[in-house]
Amino acid sequence: MVSRNALMWMAGLLMVATFLTGSNVHAYPLTPSKDNYKLALHKALMFFNAQRSGRLPRHNNVSWRSDSCLRDGKFTDTLNDLVGGYYDAGNAIKFNFPASFAMTMLSWSVIEYSAKYKGAGELAHVKDIIKWGTDYLLKTFNNSADSIDRVIDQVGLGNNDGDSENPITTDGDIFCWMRPEDIDYIRPVTACHACSDLAAEMAASLAAASIVFKDQKAYSKKLVHGAKTLFKFSRNERGRYSFPGTDAELFYNSTSYWDEFIWGAAWLYYATGNNSYLQLATTSGLAKHAAFSRGPIHGVLSWDNKLLGAQVLLTRLRLFINPGYPYRETLRRFHNEANTIMCSYLPYFTTFKRTKGGLIQLNHGKPKPLQYVVNAAFLATLYSDYLEAADNTKSAGMFCGPSFYSIDVLREFAKTQINYILGKNPKKLSYVVGFGNRFPTHVHHRGASIPNNKIKYSCDGGWKWRDTSKPNPNTIDGAMVAGPDKDDGFHDVRTNNNYTEATLAGNAGLVAALVALSGDKATGIDKNTIFNAIPPMFPTPPPPPASRKP
Ligand SMILES: *[C@@H]1O[C@H](CO)[C@@H](O)[C@H](O)[C@H]1NC(C)=O
Ligand SMILES: *[C@@H]1O[C@H](CO)[C@@H](O)[C@H](O)[C@H]1NC(C)=O
Ligand SMILES: *[C@@H]1O[C@H](CO)[C@@H](O)[C@H](O)[C@H]1NC(C)=O
Ligand SMILES: *[C@@H]1O[C@H](CO)[C@@H](O)[C@H](O)[C@H]1NC(C)=O
Ligand SMILES: *[C@@H]1O[C@H](CO)[C@@H](O)[C@H](O)[C@H]1NC(C)=O
Repeated sequence: MVSRNALMWMAGLLMVATFLTGSNVHAYPLTPSKDNYKLALHKALMFFNAQRSGRLPRHNNVSWRSDSCLRDGKFTDTLNDLVGGYYDAGNAIKFNFPASFAMTMLSWSVIEYSAKYKGAGELAHVKDIIKWGTDYLLKTFNNSADSIDRVIDQVGLGNNDGDSENPITTDGDIFCWMRPEDIDYIRPVTACHACSDLAAEMAASLAAASIVFKDQKAYSKKLVHGAKTLFKFSRNERGRYSFPGTDAELFYNSTSYWDEFIWGAAWLYYATGNNSYLQLATTSGLAKHAAFSRGPIHGVLSWDNKLLGAQVLLTRLRLFINPGYPYRETLRRFHNEANTIMCSYLPYFTTFKRTKGGLIQLNHGKPKPLQYVVNAAFLATLYSDYLEAADNTKSAGMFCGPSFYSIDVLREFAKTQINYILGKNPKKLSYVVGFGNRFPTHVHHRGASIPNNKIKYSCDGGWKWRDTSKPNPNTIDGAMVAGPDKDDGFHDVRTNNNYTEATLAGNAGLVAALVALSGDKATGIDKNTIFNAIPPMFPTPPPPPASRKP
């Protein structure tokens, strides 16, 4: 019999803290399996195949989907080919803001983990998915010009025609419930003329993709050109894209554009190696504004707030290159802040509550938690890989206040959360459709819920499929639903999108987290590719580890 003290001593800090705080995180024994992450990765990517709009490729491999919305843009005076892209979620709207963020996340995951994608046999697949997205984004502004005055931000119509008190009741992409293939109403196109958050996110997305496609020189150059043009537009014409009364405000309200300025500038710096973007990304004024307007869900990367993503991305530069003046001070601050947030995800701290089943409540108990959890799991794994690759002592870790933690605790956090999503939860339900034995069967999704039987259901003729309690006739493989409530409860009800809807942004984070956790830990990140465009700098001595209280 080993004494409790000895056991604590042997098991180390992790066990001690878990024991002392009575954390539930380990209530469900972990059996992480690399093969399961690979399988889930394949499924999670297939969700993007199911969301494709436009003329589908020969091997789209989703049996119940075919060409749809081939008239998108036809009735606008300029930029009138808007065919393609992705439907955002269960409806058939194409929203550029979350779609471009989803593509940025996928590209980031490819830049870091191309070896793991290769190992999983998914590299060509994910690149194909990114290109489908960026090809469409390139249609939504004039990329033949060096200066632009508008960007298309949405195709299709939601609940709102400018009067939020009186949702419209005419044919549109929320009111109607029909397969995208059967849509016969006219889909309005929305353009914006001062939309800094949107344009900077699109710039980030094209810049990141230009690194993914660096071997296809002409395409990569086109992406960089678009990114520069969009970023200039975003800086020159200031405004939030989701102004009052729009669908954008209702569905994807952007808190501010300061975070996208830093994020977009960071990606443009990596894509071009042009110092002026790094100077901008590390301007203390931008950092201050971004910190002041961080929105309701702070300390989390999401489609609304990219500050943490930008901080982690720039911490990479500090850890591996550590440029000196004038970047040093802001990079140090970003590293400290990112580190503090990573600490706050650990179960030893109380910044975020957890459900009884162990799911971290990053959005403080509100519905649709999983989209935040997957991004946190991705960043925690990535940050731990950065620390490991930058450390040559073989004992990589981080300080949280006075305590030093091995990077294993960050990986453990990520695995625990992803395992919860894949089925290790009190309901023993996988929240990824098609993965595991039990998963949601009433996903809020027009295409998945209507039989593909050659019968065309009208706008309201489809309501019976929306409202039936029968399971969906089509399995939307890989869709990660919005998730459980704060009590680990879940209602598999199609009409309640708080539980059963999947989105591009949510699935992109899932893909990123899964590839980061898949395969061999030793495979790690691709340390150098992201720095390819950057001219040699004279590195200063390696920075000391970050240390701050959460
Ligand atoms: C789709 O199916 C084709 C033919 O069976 C196969 O070669 C391809 O790898 C599949 N693609 C995906 C993304 O599953
Ligand atoms: C795009 O920009 C080019 C170059 O300025 C211009 O010639 C062309 O007319 C523009 N196209 C549209 C659709 O505005
Ligand atoms: C959208 O965000 C803005 C800026 O943060 C805020 O003023 C506005 O109230 C928000 N709108 C809604 C519907 O939440
Ligand atoms: C770097 O970017 C800035 C801002 O877009 C531009 O003015 C400058 O000419 C660029 N420098 C180089 C070397 O391309
Ligand atoms: C979804 O959650 C929101 C925010 O809590 C709430 O206002 C809304 O009523 C919920 N919708 C349903 C269908 O439960």
